[in-house]
Amino acid sequence: MVALKIKLKLWYNIVMKIKEVRHLLTYGCNLRCQHCYLSAGEVGDNKPADLSQEEVDRFYHYFKPDVVSATGGEPLLRIEMVYKLAKSLAAYGGALEIVTNGFMLTKGIADELKKLNKKTFFQISLDGTKDYHNKIRKSPLAYDNAMDAIKLVAGKGFVTKVRLTATNENVKQIPKVIEALSSLGNENIRLVIRPVVAKGRAKANDLKLDIDYKELESLKELSEVIIVETTDNEGKCGCGTDTIAIDPFGGIYPCTYFVFDENYKMGNIWDLPSKLTENEEFAGFKGACYARQAV
Ligand SMILES: C[S@@+](CC[C@H](N)C(=O)[O-])C[C@H]1O[C@@H](n2cnc3c(N)ncnc32)[C@H](O)[C@@H]1O
Ligand code: SF4
Repeated sequence: MVALKIKLKLWYNIVMKIKEVRHLLTYGCNLRCQHCYLSAGEVGDNKPADLSQEEVDRFYHYFKPDVVSATGGEPLLRIEMVYKLAKSLAAYGGALEIVTNGFMLTKGIADELKKLNKKTFFQISLDGTKDYHNKIRKSPLAYDNAMDAIKLVAGKGFVTKVRLTATNENVKQIPKVIEALSSLGNENIRLVIRPVVAKGRAKANDLKLDIDYKELESLKELSEVIIVETTDNEGKCGCGTDTIAIDPFGGIYPCTYFVFDENYKMGNIWDLPSKLTENEEFAGFKGACYARQAV
């Protein structure tokens, strides 16, 4: 029986199915948001690995994740890497999510991505009303640029997730955000609300969400046009089991919130055929977000 268990575990490890990858292409950023868990733009070494198309293909064609999020930092600062990912995933039918603050998103980039990978979709950050969004993102242009980016890609037919990071300060503004997004009248838009995680600049600036996150469920009824999603990973964190994060230097971690912690490092993208195994700490966790429990 023990032998069978070991054999099964070995087999499972070898074929560990990765469904989602959050690929941080850079720690660099054009903004310095007050809530950024990565403290993007301020973290020391930012000479990201310049992966060739072959290196990208080698990793992604081995694991064939369903969805890869190009994130950061600001991933559009590394547009060539974004295009390499788009091509690589299209070759086996994987979807690419572009996670962006919207500043650098252009019609040309959107068209190119549609050409390279028909399953591309977007996640654009919008953290509240105009005043709040501009304040937390420390730029007077942040709100208008985010809204323009949302209109651009939703208008082109891309699935457009608008991501709001909820804090004690903006939680009451959410109905107004829903109203502003609904007034665009575009059914490709959905609002995804996630609680702030007290790491990096969010911790330094003491940003928190004290209310029970489940209290936000009723917000879903506020719009007939757009979908509002408050459920967090459907109650189960997949990080370290079927979801991984890759740092800008090719290091593999169970979750984006732990990319700076070598104790959590699972390997790197050049280790193939991979010895990548589930992170036991994450595998044993039953809640929605390990990071929020751990900080
Ligand atoms: C780190 S950013 C990278 C992509 C891009 N620069 C952006 O802002 O959309 C990815 C998402 O994480 C969110 N985020 C940043 N810090 C966070 C924190 N402390 N807790 C929860 N979400 C956070 C951002 O608002 C953004 O929606
Ligand atoms: S949240 Fe995004 S835009 Fe803001 S500093 Fe962090 S990486 Fe940059």
